[in-house]
Amino acid sequence: MILAANFKSNLNRAKAHTYIEALEAFCTQNAIEDRVIVFPPASALRESSLHVKVGAQNAFAARSGAFTGELAQDQLDEFAIRTVLIGHSERRHVIGETQELIAEKFAYYQKQGFEIVYCIGEPLEVREEGNEALLEYLEAQYEGVDLHYSGLVIAYEPVWAIGTGLTPTLQEIELIHASIKERTSRPLLYGGSVKAENAREILALEHVEGVLVGSGALDVRDFCSMIADAKSLHVQKEKHRS
Ligand code: PGA
Repeated sequence: MILAANFKSNLNRAKAHTYIEALEAFCTQNAIEDRVIVFPPASALRESSLHVKVGAQNAFAARSGAFTGELAQDQLDEFAIRTVLIGHSERRHVIGETQELIAEKFAYYQKQGFEIVYCIGEPLEVREEGNEALLEYLEAQYEGVDLHYSGLVIAYEPVWAIGTGLTPTLQEIELIHASIKERTSRPLLYGGSVKAENAREILALEHVEGVLVGSGALDVRDFCSMIADAKSLHVQKEKHRS
């Protein structure tokens, strides 16, 4: 499974580094084999450690240049960052990134061979229109995106569930994930108000191959508890098989 924490604009450099060190220690002590990714704010980027991959929350589609306020590939290369989040709902809806710009970033970082965690998700008014409208909305977010790229990880995050404490029902998550899986075989994460309290039941769902967590992961102990849940679910599944 893949467990990813998105700090957004939370935690400063010192706190993010303390967090990552505690996380690395936890993963080492518990022999964690699942993939753990952290997206700290740009000021706290650093090299990945043995268990904890560090990714960028955003990056401009260029090696370097006159793009005030943006990080480009050169700044990621300094820390050997090879993972980037693209299409997050806050970039789409708060910052105003268009699908065209998102597709440009995707194409650029695909060409550079980066791992891309690509976020999709519908606003509430679309969800209320029903499943057909929802899938149509997601379809538009695939525009210009190579769904078969080997470095792709998809994160389905309903916009109305992000940072609100609301989540779709487990059946709804399963249903949407099954439909997304018909379009791509790449790993599929769920995101949107995942917390230490509900991670286990979400991770146990079919077609959920990990989680992307924002506020629920800001305390490293909570994120570690989700990682422990993922590990114990593997053990359970192994037992079922044997
Ligand atoms: P949340 O954010 O866990 O705070 O809802 C998830 C995300 O934006 O990736």
